[in-house]
Amino acid sequence: MSEVAGDRKPRVLLLYYSYTGQTVKVLDAAEEVLRKRGYLVDRAPIEFTDPKYSVKFSRFPMRRVWPDFFSVLPAQTRGVTGDIRTPEVVRTGGYDLICIGSPTWWDTVSMPLRSFLVSHEARPLLDGTPFAVFVVCRRKWRKNLAGVRKLAEKKGGRFVDSIHFTYPGSELSSMLSLTSYLGSGEYKERYLGVKLPPTNINEEHVEEARRFTARVADKVFGKR
Ligand SMILES: Cc1cc2nc3c(=O)[nH]c(=O)nc-3n(C[C@H](O)[C@H](O)[C@H](O)COP(=O)(O)O)c2cc1C
Repeated sequence: MSEVAGDRKPRVLLLYYSYTGQTVKVLDAAEEVLRKRGYLVDRAPIEFTDPKYSVKFSRFPMRRVWPDFFSVLPAQTRGVTGDIRTPEVVRTGGYDLICIGSPTWWDTVSMPLRSFLVSHEARPLLDGTPFAVFVVCRRKWRKNLAGVRKLAEKKGGRFVDSIHFTYPGSELSSMLSLTSYLGSGEYKERYLGVKLPPTNINEEHVEEARRFTARVADKVFGKR
């Protein structure tokens, strides 16, 4: 059943933080599906501006990958929040569905997204609004998803569904593949003597994101 009154086109917001653009890739797929259905789609990328923590994430590839990668670990473990900048669309609101894109940072919600979800701007945007979560990570998705869901529901959001995208390889090889990429911006065959599996979002993930978005749209606005 459509929840949008009259002939008004459904309005969807893509709300996310993305450092290397992987979360953007799956939300691009979502946008394509939603626009094909005739819905209006806006984007709200969260900008990480915190003076203490954001500098390392303001450039890509990372300058010193291991220290930069680990720089937010203690803060992430404590669920610390920091300064962010958000676009005007999060304040105008009035959305019928919000797609939240959430990359995992140290097994949980990234500081920039957490900072938004606990902010005073989150309630007017989310209150009474259906939301779907797109988790993007190397391997660890559960706590991130649970965290986003809890924070968004605390602001009145209505959870619809979720999907997670993970990268191939063992704990060690996927970690080396990711850090090799974060430190070089390139895909290498080997790093520190280990053969690397592919990392990041691939075409199969993108296809999965399209199917998931269509299911979510069916649930919220009725089957097409
Ligand atoms: C600081 C940092 C910490 C991360 N920690 C984890 C982690 O604990 N578990 C995991 O599966 N992936 C982790 N990742 C991998 C990201 O989730 C992955 O790189 C994802 O593609 C990032 O999406 P984005 O490019 O949209 O920011 C981490 C990445 C960064 C930059």
